[in-house]
Amino acid sequence: MPRIAYVNGAYERTSEAAVSIEDRGYQFADAVYEVWSVFDGRLADLSGHLDRLERSLSELQIAMPMPRTSLLVVLNEVIRRNRIREGLVYLQISRGVAPRDHVFPVDTLPSIVITAKPVDRAAAEIKAAAGIKAITAPDIRWGRCDIKTVGLLPNVLAKQQAKAKGATEVIFVDHDGYITEGGSTNVYIVTKEGEIRTRSLEANILAGVTRLNLLPLIRESGITLSEGAFTLEEALAATEVFVTAATSLVMPIVAINDTLIGDGKPGPIACALREVYIERARASAGV
Ligand code: PDD
Repeated sequence: MPRIAYVNGAYERTSEAAVSIEDRGYQFADAVYEVWSVFDGRLADLSGHLDRLERSLSELQIAMPMPRTSLLVVLNEVIRRNRIREGLVYLQISRGVAPRDHVFPVDTLPSIVITAKPVDRAAAEIKAAAGIKAITAPDIRWGRCDIKTVGLLPNVLAKQQAKAKGATEVIFVDHDGYITEGGSTNVYIVTKEGEIRTRSLEANILAGVTRLNLLPLIRESGITLSEGAFTLEEALAATEVFVTAATSLVMPIVAINDTLIGDGKPGPIACALREVYIERARASAGV
């Protein structure tokens, strides 16, 4: 079955769908994006992602190309046309198409592209049960990582470096030696005292929607949670390290730079949080 993409008002075969060579997303990374997980054919953490999309657009002074309700219809139609039950939806909105000039074009409509792909949940659970390895890299990104732009070159290069070293994720470390976030995830540690720590949103990181919806679940579970800075050394000494994102959900990190975390196996807290997060995300999907 051919994959179907939504491109500026039309549903097209993904293999044939195209945007202009003068799209500002292509020329300047002048675009934002969102990724949703799909459970049972419904968008997980729906409103959190829509809220962040609106914020990203507003920070870049790009207009929402359509009202939220209409966007929701299109997102669901892409899921339906691709017959996705378990999967991921990708949405990208750029400032639009205009002759190349750094300053904003006048009266240009934003471009919008939406694609979807299936996810093999059984394979994802096998991966999570083994955990993944990470490497570290200096956080050389710009100062507005709170905006979810498609300008991801530092992330791309660092994740490629991770792959070359047999790891799956990169953990960024800032100038002061503190961990910020992952190449495409937020990062958490479980300290020897049993407290979960993750960087606060005041740091130059993305406000992950998975993070947003996981933090209350951590608090409900009775585990002490603190949003604050932690070093690589603290992560290496932690009993558990895990990351979150719409793509990986809650994923245990079992080694950083070849140093095993704990006993080198996914920890009980990360595994339990993964289960409870997926349960909640599935139950509340579409809302
Ligand atoms: N990335 N930090 C960064 C740098 C990210 O790119 C992402 C997500 C996250 C987690 O955000 P969320 O929980 O809302 O998915 C944190 C997406 C999934 C990606 O680029 O594929």
